[in-house]
Amino acid sequence: MASFISKETIEAVQNATDIVSLIGEYTKLEPRGKDYWGCCPFHNEKTPSFHIEPDKRFYYCFSCHAGGDVIKFIMEQEKLSYADAILFLAKRSGVEVKYESGYSQPAPDPKLKLSEEYIDLYERTASMFHYLLTETEQGKPALEYITKRGLSEKTIQKFKLGFAPADRHWLKKFLLGKNFSPEFLGGSGLFSKKYQDTAFFSNRLMFPIFNRRGQVVAFGGRQLDNDPNSPKYLNSGDLIQYKKGETLYAFNFAKKAIKENKKVIFCEGYMDCIAYHQCGIEYAVAPLGTALTDEQVRLVRPFTDEVLLSFDADGAGQKATMRAMLMLRRAGITVRIIQLVGGKDPAEIMINYGAEALTNAVSNAILDSDFLLSKLGSEYSVDTPEGKTKASLAFFTYVDALQSDIQKESCLEQLCQAFNLKPEAVKRDFLNREKAHERLNNRQPSASSQPQKIKLTAELRSVLAVMADLDKYKMMRAELSADDFEDFSAKQLFTILEECFKDNSLSLTGVLNRCEDGRLADLITSVVSLGEYRDNTGNAVQDSIRMIKRRSLERRRNVLMERLRHLSPVTADDKEQLREILREKMEIDRKLLQ
Ligand code: UTP
Ligand code: MN
Repeated sequence: MASFISKETIEAVQNATDIVSLIGEYTKLEPRGKDYWGCCPFHNEKTPSFHIEPDKRFYYCFSCHAGGDVIKFIMEQEKLSYADAILFLAKRSGVEVKYESGYSQPAPDPKLKLSEEYIDLYERTASMFHYLLTETEQGKPALEYITKRGLSEKTIQKFKLGFAPADRHWLKKFLLGKNFSPEFLGGSGLFSKKYQDTAFFSNRLMFPIFNRRGQVVAFGGRQLDNDPNSPKYLNSGDLIQYKKGETLYAFNFAKKAIKENKKVIFCEGYMDCIAYHQCGIEYAVAPLGTALTDEQVRLVRPFTDEVLLSFDADGAGQKATMRAMLMLRRAGITVRIIQLVGGKDPAEIMINYGAEALTNAVSNAILDSDFLLSKLGSEYSVDTPEGKTKASLAFFTYVDALQSDIQKESCLEQLCQAFNLKPEAVKRDFLNREKAHERLNNRQPSASSQPQKIKLTAELRSVLAVMADLDKYKMMRAELSADDFEDFSAKQLFTILEECFKDNSLSLTGVLNRCEDGRLADLITSVVSLGEYRDNTGNAVQDSIRMIKRRSLERRRNVLMERLRHLSPVTADDKEQLREILREKMEIDRKLLQ
């Protein structure tokens, strides 16, 4: 297809695109001699192994070996075909696209085309909602509400806030009037799946969600009537043009400030994020209604070594803080915690005390280790030996997430000082933390002093094979449930995968974050990094799934047989049970014969 675009156009695009400024939009670059260096935008890293040789118009990463020219770069970063990457760059640099004589413009990738059409629809809908909010009578209460919450006209413009009318049938009529087809609108996510004419968002304050290029790709809508029967916020689900786990709210506005300040704030939601921006702290972004994902971390990773967390002080917020802290530390990122006084969230601080208070809170953000120590200090009675032990054990999990031995050591020293502990004892406890965890959980300590190695059973191998190629997990969960596993570690890993799948964090880090068993985590890391099982074909995984299912059915059958043997049907109840067992046994026999 690319050959249809004329050679001259391809050359013109390459000439017109400055590779340094193009890639500079994706990662922070610094000149070193003739070259430019930065952290690789294709993988997470702490020290730059990615460089550009501008005179050769070429980039290369010494670590992950990604390399090529501007077209290759855009293909990979924006996930475009060769031809579409050329069109993307031509548009960016204003080069006119010509096709080889005899060929007309080829049809673009249909998925890409549809995605662009939906972006157009969302852009128009957002503009309409914005108009309704700012210019019409029906938008007035919403405008008053948001003004009372302290948002300026400028902010309302910038974030293109809007109002979705209470009349649920209005939007369909409006968009049909703009000549969008009913089928196209049906797949847009703007309408109820069941009732195609009914708008998904109604009587809500609308927050458009932008992609990194600043185009509207989805919406969040806040209720205005405090109706306890409907959620406070409704959010778009995943769409062709929008994956919530790969998007950070306000990243389009924040990118520049993140680069300049070398830091980023992760906060809880739309309002908090907007409050930070209005107060001049423009490096704030928010994950969208899900726990932080790997992809979201990867979006900011190239630009910053430091993340500030600004989650609520309530239970859910604290849990999110802990989770994000460990995840970011494992990615080698420094973490600070923003603590707010005088209000429950940044939006409240802004309205109660103004921008300066928020700026102060940001500059006073404390290191995560200090935050954790003070939290543990208040959670456990650390003046007793038991309390000290429990607090230390909880802290060891954090130490384990740190990526350098120097850091680990200095954090252990901090622990000693915080709870008045002897360094020698802490070191010993740290080395024996596995066993201490077991004791604490009242489990049988392992027989030997060494932690027992995990046995690589056939079941565990199958789940590990899925770990090596997470796309296969869907196949596995379609056939199996946790109860089908006999092997404890396999069951454990499957359960973790399922949790990750459900909250959209299915990735290596997502799994490792949930993995409480250090041995299992090590096994996963080594399997994945050594590339074991990677060559397993879909068929091999399918076969092993079948094998696990079969064994599970056989085990269940044995249990049923055993029960049958002990059942002497006397009462009506017994008879009912007998029928029930026989029915299940028959069902299993049928499945085993398939
Ligand atoms: P909060 O309940 O803290 O809302 O949820 P908020 O952003 O502070 O909103 P205000 O101040 O009451 O207007 C934080 C984030 O969690 C998601 C939204 O992304 C929200 O911004 N959320 C919350 C939902 O997706 N659905 C809900 O029902 C509630
Ligand atoms: Mn709030």
